[in-house]
Amino acid sequence: MKFTINKILVIDYGSQYTQLIARRIRELQTYCEVIPFHKVNKKNLSDKSLCGIILSGGPNSVKDKKSPKLDGKIIAQGVPILGICYGMQLVCNMFGGKIAKSRLREYGHSIITTKGKSVLFEKIKIKNQVWMSHGDHVEQKPDEFTITSLSNNKIISSIEHKNKKIFGLQFHPEVYHSLEGKKILSNFLFKICKIKNKFKLENFLSDKIKSLRNDLKKTKVICGLSGGVDSTVTSFLLHKAIKNNLFCIFVDHGMLRLNESNEVESIFKKKFGKNFIKVNASSIFIKKLKNIKEPEIKRKIIGKTFIEVFEKEAKKIKGVQYLAQGTLYPDIIESIPFFGGPTAKIKSHHNVGGLPKKMSLKIVEPLKELFKDEVRILGRNLKINPDLLDRHPFPGPGLAIRIPGEIDKNKIDILQRVDNIYIEYLKKNLIYNKIWQAFAVLLPVKSVGVMGDERTYNYAVSLRAVTSVDGMTADFYMFTKSQLTDISREIISRVKEVNRVLFDFTSKPPGTIEWE
Ligand code: XMP
Repeated sequence: MKFTINKILVIDYGSQYTQLIARRIRELQTYCEVIPFHKVNKKNLSDKSLCGIILSGGPNSVKDKKSPKLDGKIIAQGVPILGICYGMQLVCNMFGGKIAKSRLREYGHSIITTKGKSVLFEKIKIKNQVWMSHGDHVEQKPDEFTITSLSNNKIISSIEHKNKKIFGLQFHPEVYHSLEGKKILSNFLFKICKIKNKFKLENFLSDKIKSLRNDLKKTKVICGLSGGVDSTVTSFLLHKAIKNNLFCIFVDHGMLRLNESNEVESIFKKKFGKNFIKVNASSIFIKKLKNIKEPEIKRKIIGKTFIEVFEKEAKKIKGVQYLAQGTLYPDIIESIPFFGGPTAKIKSHHNVGGLPKKMSLKIVEPLKELFKDEVRILGRNLKINPDLLDRHPFPGPGLAIRIPGEIDKNKIDILQRVDNIYIEYLKKNLIYNKIWQAFAVLLPVKSVGVMGDERTYNYAVSLRAVTSVDGMTADFYMFTKSQLTDISREIISRVKEVNRVLFDFTSKPPGTIEWE
């Protein structure tokens, strides 16, 4: 897609906060792209829409020989530069300043005091709370730079070039704990980089529809629907652009939430008519999962079977050239491997990634410039039912990974009913939207209980509820005692196969959100 808007390039040196920088810039209605430092080249630096560059933080020390270096082309390019933490140290190093290793890593809140007049700090209080996270610091500024703030332990917390528009911050303006961080970023964007043409979702929608029409012309496109936000918005957007050349396939693998399959069918049938195809494949999946206990094997079987079923159905539609995917921007920001850090795969995610290679289809990803919350807003602009848009994320392998160990139809049925009671309670009590994701897990154990005068020997379920920004890290959500009491009572009284309810208070890390 060609943008006529102004752009900021965020160069990533491996900071845990890089996505957050991009996020804040987008909150300020400015278009930005993130690229890893080793992908910097003449082409991306000479882009006419480029108005400024941000150098991210990173886990390395510029004093380390193997650490990522600042490419001279970035400075030579001439647009304003803001180096954050490691980014500032790179700038300082290049211009001949001195970096020192701190005795102690400075991590957490700090107060800075600004000095003199800096456009970056315009309309910012002289004393300011900021968020620090660094080992090294600037011991001696380069000659061509001035110091614009000091932290309360006398560390140089910001510098700027005397003539050129090059700035450095030792702290992280992108983190909420830096109270005026957003204002500082806003000064960089609008006062220094002079961003004028902003990124607005309304314009995105009309531009995207035009460019999809232009790119896809009269070709047929298939889209895999899951009932989740991303694939729903992808399909509605494509439908606006190419109408009846869009074909949507919904594979019901039998491990969805209670009634979900019918709900998805009724919404999409109305919208897409004959071009909506539902495949009821639950018996195939359940058969293939028989006696399988190991989580990774379960995931692989579900992924492979999904591809087989989808492919078979897609082949029935003649002349298809494209496969639409609901990829979002955070999915394609390449993460920098942390030097010496773990590279092991934690879970193999289920998606339709294997399809295009097998079916030799071209890919269309209309949401790939957007963040999740922007996709939700776009969905509202496309008049999609808010209940659909505000749904908690639901994993591709569905309830199969919420039933540790072997699964069967009976267990799925029990879990569907428990999950439904739990989620309905959260919705009714207006807790649902405060939580990133909530679900129940059916444990592979039975325990003894007593109901009335009778001994019971039934399943235990565990409730999970987490808050998160992006699912990468998460905190468990703490219900009140009376809420937990109500949920537990409801589940045990309405689902006779369950006699014990547990609450999972593990954050991520060390736990993952799903159990498998
Ligand atoms: P974990 O369990 O890795 O989950 O902490 C992080 C987020 O990803 C979702 N998830 C998946 N989503 N296919 C998906 O589309 C998958 O295979 C899958 N596995 C986990 C999970 O629900 C959470 O939101």
